Amino acid sequence: MKKAIGLFAAGAMVLALSACGGGAAAPAGNGGEGKGKSLDQLVVGFAQVGAESGWRTANTKDIQDSFKEAGIQLKFSDAQQKQENQIKAIRSYIQQGVDYIAFSPVVQTGWDAVLNEAKAANIPVILTDRAVDSKDTSLYVTFLGSDFILEGKKAGEWLVKEYEGKNDAVNVVQLEGTTGSAPAIDRGTGFADAIKANPNIKVVASQTGDFTRAGGKQVMEAMLKSQPKIDVVYAHNDDMGLGAIEAIEAAGKVPGKDIKIITVDAVKDGMTALSEGKINFIVECSPLLGKQLIDVVKTLNEGGTVEKRIVTEETTFTQEQAKEALPTRKY
Ligand code: AHR
Repeated sequence: MKKAIGLFAAGAMVLALSACGGGAAAPAGNGGEGKGKSLDQLVVGFAQVGAESGWRTANTKDIQDSFKEAGIQLKFSDAQQKQENQIKAIRSYIQQGVDYIAFSPVVQTGWDAVLNEAKAANIPVILTDRAVDSKDTSLYVTFLGSDFILEGKKAGEWLVKEYEGKNDAVNVVQLEGTTGSAPAIDRGTGFADAIKANPNIKVVASQTGDFTRAGGKQVMEAMLKSQPKIDVVYAHNDDMGLGAIEAIEAAGKVPGKDIKIITVDAVKDGMTALSEGKINFIVECSPLLGKQLIDVVKTLNEGGTVEKRIVTEETTFTQEQAKEALPTRKY
């Protein structure tokens, strides 16, 4: 909240300064001089990860709707979960001379070259949803999105509480997101951290399902065959958890009872499964980043300064909370 206020305050201050200056160039913020353009002249290139999950579909829709509403031109590309496609899209935005580039990096590593090209072309880059591991943080203006470590931690803390006071072995299988992606790395780290003081809770198998429902189903089918005892599934997103439910039911077991399921996201399909008792706990990851992205673009355009890290506020859901939230859930 404090950060969001900081962002608006900076924008408002710059607006006031431009008004006094009678059209003089906007002062330099952390996005450079500020383009000082009217909104309908601004062009933003957005390189999306793909359409791998319900979360991603909701994120794409929210971004496209927010740009339409703001009257800012959006050039949009879908990388189909391939880094080389995202790099190509970013290079094409640089060639076209867009005003800003925003993207959600498929994986964390390997961005320095293309980000340096954007910097050389004087095009500010905004990271949305996922981070890069570049040492040179001047290669992007801000990173706007969730705290994935905290999400993993919340999942682990729920599990520890669920088995509190019981010393029986709890065998967990983990369905990881895309290998090398920030949410897969961080959700794994946060979860491991939260359970580490409980030696009876063990991750007995961990494999990527690439954030897709089909991937989650396939990995779960294999794990059900190779693991003699599975008590809990921790899936890095709802879609993989929903795929795991299909595999568990096909194996004649009851999801949510014979095998407990924890997921991350809280999209409608996940929340429906939670309300039916097939999932036991969901950690929210909000895909609604469009409005915050527009605020950043507007502030930079006016020569204002934005926070280097803008964290999305999120909650968690139990079955009862899912039932309550579902009727008004937007995605
Ligand atoms: O980066 C956010 C993650 O990517 C979401 O949790 C997942 O569903 C998506 O594919």
